[in-house]
Amino acid sequence: MNILSVKDVYYKVDKLDIIKGISIDIKKDDCISIVGQSGSGKSTLLKLCADLIPITSGSIYYKEKCYTNYNPIELRKSISYCIQTPILFGNNVYDNLEFPFKIRNEKVDINRINYLLEKLNLDKSYLQKDIKTLSGGEKQRIAIIRNLLYIPEILLLDEITASLDKENTIIVENYIKELNESGVTVLWITHSDEQSKSIFNKRIFISQGEVIKVEEII
Ligand SMILES: Nc1ncnc2c1ncn2[C@@H]1O[C@H](COP(=O)(O)OP(=O)(O)O)[C@@H](O)[C@H]1O
Ligand SMILES: [Mg+2]
Repeated sequence: MNILSVKDVYYKVDKLDIIKGISIDIKKDDCISIVGQSGSGKSTLLKLCADLIPITSGSIYYKEKCYTNYNPIELRKSISYCIQTPILFGNNVYDNLEFPFKIRNEKVDINRINYLLEKLNLDKSYLQKDIKTLSGGEKQRIAIIRNLLYIPEILLLDEITASLDKENTIIVENYIKELNESGVTVLWITHSDEQSKSIFNKRIFISQGEVIKVEEII
């Protein structure tokens, strides 16, 4: 069964085709890297898969049921999109990490927060830190944690290690691979050729709004 199936999807803005008839089938255990030049449509493709922008034509199926037949909130819980430029809000790190619990009306699971902070090479001393004092790489990791406090079925990652150093990039890659091995489907846009082969079983090449190649990585 395909967990996600993109069928002949177009995305147009005014009369400009940004995504031009993309079709992809994704299996539950896939860990896929998406590569292509800047402006080729990678982020737009993931936003369509995350149901954040409307498809112009074509359709996307999650577990073989068309997106239009889902409650958008249900899709949002199952399919998570982690954006390229992290946006933190409130005053401190805690404000950001309690948020996923608050919107679900659930008690804050501080053990889960601390577990993920340590997993991504941070620690609980960060919780009270003013977000204005964080480095780009720290902000990026806090945003990743905020996305992963509740583990989705499908994880869409948009160049999430762009502002991380080598050590932290590897830490994040290892954690994402661990999630994939525990059953999370991963699609990850990456700029780095080295990264695009690191933890993935497939690599999709995008050019000018089209898929030009799908490569199995052994
Ligand atoms: N809402 C929009 N309005 C106009 N142009 C857009 C819009 N969204 C994306 N684009 C254009 O579509 C192209 C693909 O963008 P994007 O998906 O962000 O590319 P990538 O992530 O591969 O760098 C770019 O040329 C971008 O400027
Ligand atoms: Mg992009």
